[in-house]
Amino acid sequence: MAVEGLQKEPQSILVTGGAGFIGTHTVLQLLKEGFRVSVIDNLDNSVEEAVDRVREIAGPELSRNLTFFLGDLRNKEDLEKIFSQTRFDAVIHFAGLKAVGESVAKPMLYYNNNLIGTLNLYEFMTKYGCKKMVFSSSATVYGQPEKIPCVEDFQLKAMNPYGRTKLFLEEIAQDVQKADQEWRIILLRYFNPIGAHESGRIGEDPKGIPNNLMPYIQQVAVGRLPVLNVYGHDYPTKDGSAIRDYIHVMDLADGHIAALRKLFTTEDIGCTAYNLGTGSGTSVLEMVAAFEKASGKKIPFKLCPRRPGDATAVYASTEKAHKELGWRAKYGTEEMCRDQWNWASNNPWGYRPPPQS
Ligand code: NAD
Ligand code: UD1
Repeated sequence: MAVEGLQKEPQSILVTGGAGFIGTHTVLQLLKEGFRVSVIDNLDNSVEEAVDRVREIAGPELSRNLTFFLGDLRNKEDLEKIFSQTRFDAVIHFAGLKAVGESVAKPMLYYNNNLIGTLNLYEFMTKYGCKKMVFSSSATVYGQPEKIPCVEDFQLKAMNPYGRTKLFLEEIAQDVQKADQEWRIILLRYFNPIGAHESGRIGEDPKGIPNNLMPYIQQVAVGRLPVLNVYGHDYPTKDGSAIRDYIHVMDLADGHIAALRKLFTTEDIGCTAYNLGTGSGTSVLEMVAAFEKASGKKIPFKLCPRRPGDATAVYASTEKAHKELGWRAKYGTEEMCRDQWNWASNNPWGYRPPPQS
């Protein structure tokens, strides 16, 4: 029986891949919302410094609620160690590989990491009786949508091995929940996350040449790359370049808090998918112009042929997330570019020191 006057224990969340781009921003918001957070990450695409900076932004008191484990989801011993030490109320599962081109070249690496890692996670969540999960899916599961905006009940399609891991993992989640109704699973389909925390202390730090538009623009702005290749200028859009739904990473982080609250309060949530996007589309050339305005930097660009596999226009229907999660994106492209530039200008080499010349 609860004794009046006693503080309720904070809920404890395991965040896989919590040292990564979306993970760090979400962990920060979780701490601010009073959750206790354990991160497991193998630092394959991140550095521990990112977690230290989350601690720095959160301050010493909230940071006491954050623990970091260096571990790999493919390694069951790592999972045993973390699950046997802490009782988790829910898991937010970010850990995975995400580069589309690399997934085409190394499909087995993607199937191994993304699928095996997630199957192991289900095994240990089941073993330790934690049956609530928020899973990072992607707008990639809509393939090249025939209609826009993308609505959650559209037929899904994978375009490459990375997309296929997301599609399979969505289907696996449905099967796991169908077989055992104690599970509550929310699949979040992110559109194009960009921007950074307003402090400029955490942000996206891709290894090698970036594949995605905004990290590429950012590296042109700080002089690491000479020119942006704009892929496609003959799309049937107002300026000929392709349209996407860019969403501020802090909005995305808040979407995870809304999803967690939904999991905790909705017994019959089952396994449900929600889009996390703004609902409005912006072209590549509009993003270039918005970034130039926010940074005061000229971004030289070259008009190039279309990138194979790219869709003309992709943006989200946001109705379901708004109605059922009570969540809606707050920020527009101006704030996204402002915060992206704040991160870039303060950390031109990301979390790494500048190379010695
Ligand atoms: P990220 O690479 O920055 O973060 C993923 C983290 O997972 C990294 O820190 C990496 O080291 C870790 N990781 C990978 N495999 C692991 C394993 N086997 N064990 C432990 N840790 C492991 O990527 P992100 O942009 O933060 O994306 C997070 C999730 O969201 C991914 O699942 C990604 O597919 C999905 N997603 C991202 C985007 C995007 O544009 N960033 C869009 C849609 C979906
Ligand atoms: C890509 C992935 C998608 C993944 C998402 C987030 C593909 C086909 N899709 O989406 O599966 O979930 O990233 O990681 O790779 N662009 C340029 N120049 C560049 C880079 C991009 O013009 O240097 C254009 C692209 O052609 C596209 C737009 O910018 O029209 C956005 O590209 P990107 O940031 O890579 O995201 P998506 O292609 O939407």
